[in-house]
Amino acid sequence: MTLTTLPTPPDLSITPRDRRFGREAATPRLWHGGRVEATAIYNALSTTFPAGEAYFVESVRAFRDGAPPKLAEEIKGFTTQEAIHSREHDAFNRRAEQSGYDLSRLEAQVEKRLAISRARPPIVNVAATMALEHFTAIIAHELLANPRHLEGAESETADLWRWHAVEEIEHKGVAYDTWLHATRHWPRSKRWKVKAKVMLYVTRNFVVDRTAGSLELMRQDGVTGFRAWAMLLRYLWVRPGMFRKIAGAWLKFFLPGFHPWNEDDRYLLDSYAANAGGSESKRKVRRAA
Ligand SMILES: [Fe+2]
Ligand SMILES: [Fe+2]
Repeated sequence: MTLTTLPTPPDLSITPRDRRFGREAATPRLWHGGRVEATAIYNALSTTFPAGEAYFVESVRAFRDGAPPKLAEEIKGFTTQEAIHSREHDAFNRRAEQSGYDLSRLEAQVEKRLAISRARPPIVNVAATMALEHFTAIIAHELLANPRHLEGAESETADLWRWHAVEEIEHKGVAYDTWLHATRHWPRSKRWKVKAKVMLYVTRNFVVDRTAGSLELMRQDGVTGFRAWAMLLRYLWVRPGMFRKIAGAWLKFFLPGFHPWNEDDRYLLDSYAANAGGSESKRKVRRAA
């Protein structure tokens, strides 16, 4: 696959929507329908975003020079969107702290992982970003496609997650295309080996760290031991079963010819905009990139 034959839709526009959430009122501690495990899982995921998405931005930006103009433009949209996501999830995390959670152990773990990655060459960092962006895109797809995931959630917070999911789908090809550009002189076999290895590595860390983080937050709500594990595994694998639902999409990453835009799921963006009415209309914001 060369950069001129990418399946990225030619009419794709990556448009940052500069929204702010939850500034008016405190977020309830168990904002996800009063459920300890659901709140813990989403809160644990949110602790990764402020530092994690800043890392995505620097990893992709390292390859912006010399990128074809269309890709350079997409990188700009991507970095602006991720910068706003970092800001909003940081605000969300502070509200979780105000409601009584201690996120320091979770945030320290994120920083530890990022420090290990940053010590590696830039190409490894863009590979890790590309793999994690596939992860976020398939979670985002499932989140928007199946309303059960945010069922019962406090509406402003549910809106934050949907807004983030929309933009993750919109820019899902950017890190991948940057990776293809950065490795354009590599043999296909080498490219596949590195991307497969990196995906397995980040998946392992993602599952281990988010599980530990979720269990830690559940512990802060007084749920521990077998009961905590059972609630967590049921939520992730059975109902609503996010991990089970994304397993197939995760596997597709390893197929020859994989590209995030082999599946055009922009219909989810259209239905989000239609449901949200005028307030969600695409607002152009200053380019932070
Ligand atoms: Fe994001
Ligand atoms: Fe992203």
